[in-house]
Amino acid sequence: MTTKETLIKNLKDKKARIGILGLGYVGLPLAVVFAEAGFHVTGIDPDSRKADSITRGVSYIPDVKTETVDRLVKSGCLTATTDFSVLREMDAVSICVPTPLRKTGDPDMSFILSATDELAKYMHKEMVVVLESTTYPGTTREVLLPKLGTESGLVVGEDWFLAFSPERVDPGREDFTTINTPKVMGGITEACSEVATAWYEGAIKTVHCVSSAEAAELAKLLENTFRMINIGLVNELAIMCERLGVDVWEVIDAAATKPFGFMKFTPGPGLGGHCIPIDPLYLSWKMKSFQYNARFIELASEINTNMPRYVVSRIMEALNERGRALKGSKVLVLGAAYKPDIDDVRESPALDVIGLLKKKGAAVEYHDPYIPHIHHEIDGWQMDSVKDMMKAVRDADAVVIITNHKVYDYRAIVESAAFVFDSRNATREFTKSTGKVVRL
Ligand SMILES: NC(=O)c1ccc[n+]([C@@H]2O[C@H](COP(=O)([O-])OP(=O)(O)OC[C@H]3O[C@@H](n4cnc5c(N)ncnc54)[C@H](O)[C@@H]3O)[C@@H](O)[C@H]2O)c1
Repeated sequence: MTTKETLIKNLKDKKARIGILGLGYVGLPLAVVFAEAGFHVTGIDPDSRKADSITRGVSYIPDVKTETVDRLVKSGCLTATTDFSVLREMDAVSICVPTPLRKTGDPDMSFILSATDELAKYMHKEMVVVLESTTYPGTTREVLLPKLGTESGLVVGEDWFLAFSPERVDPGREDFTTINTPKVMGGITEACSEVATAWYEGAIKTVHCVSSAEAAELAKLLENTFRMINIGLVNELAIMCERLGVDVWEVIDAAATKPFGFMKFTPGPGLGGHCIPIDPLYLSWKMKSFQYNARFIELASEINTNMPRYVVSRIMEALNERGRALKGSKVLVLGAAYKPDIDDVRESPALDVIGLLKKKGAAVEYHDPYIPHIHHEIDGWQMDSVKDMMKAVRDADAVVIITNHKVYDYRAIVESAAFVFDSRNATREFTKSTGKVVRL
């Protein structure tokens, strides 16, 4: 049998040993899906708290149940470590490390580079590597291929196999999870696609193969750029509607009655999370090296980035109409997570809104049932979520809804508050009756 055939057989027989580099929001669910499918999976993460937690059978990702981790760890299907030398024994490795932006807005490739350098030390024949981290087109071929193969004399597509398969996990979502969300797969060679597909098909329902790693890298960037641009469009519509004196939410709901050719997006206080505000900028950064300016991305990014400032200016105006200055007013921000019902505060617009309100001299508090504490490392402030939310609502001069968590009783909030600024249309049912609410 050729190397490819042997590896495919081992993957299909679930004898191949799986390594997952990075046990975060993407890596842990993926490790669990492979372990549930019958593979022996080892997660490797330099963060000893994560590795220790898995070893104790405890999940730290809300979408992954502790009972599941505990069962898989006890059965020996899932282990975790900080020791990269276990990679020597792996046959198939997925890389799920962060890809943030630097302060300058350029891609921060340091995590991909360090994970690849570690893996390069233990590369051997009959191995398949899949990069899952969202990144610019060309990363798999230009960065991983030389470090993992060419430099050690291994021939890709013959001795070992390399592909890109973007993760599409949507934290908090229950209908589409890692297992039933189709996976795009693009290999460096056709043989690479074949091996990587054989592996993933052992655990994931649908694997959609494309002809190159670059096509897979770009598919992910298209998905997230599509969202970013459409959110930018409705955010600008919200700004225009305010000038026109028209309710933007009513306009969007009306347009959404069209059964074809329209997809509903809603405005808000700005973009958040690890993906939508960041990933498209990987593409626009890459295009600069081709002397091409990705105009849609730049424009949507500009509009979305300005939304927290716009929200604060609207709060200021609304307070002014009520005879109050923002400076010295008590403002309670409700919701700090970047989207409803999750515990993730990364890139959340709440951070910008709170920071801007503080700069304008407001006395700011926040409440979030999922985020007990915020530490803004760059701006150097930290806050605890208020303990008695309804008391804080009653005490505030302005209550600002930034994240529309389902657990909030919006009727009670509107009834108890002096004034509510609602950036999410969470109070739609109570807005007209009270006259206390101003919506985005
Ligand atoms: N979170 C999402 O919803 C989501 C969705 C789709 C795609 N993605 C993409 O997936 C990638 C991972 O995102 P995430 O949300 O899981 O990040 P995360 O921060 O939750 O997890 C990344 C993990 O990688 C670990 N790590 C850092 N350096 C490492 C190294 N050298 N070797 C091994 N592990 C290392 C970190 O300690 C951390 O535990 C990113 O590229 C992201 O854009 C994320």
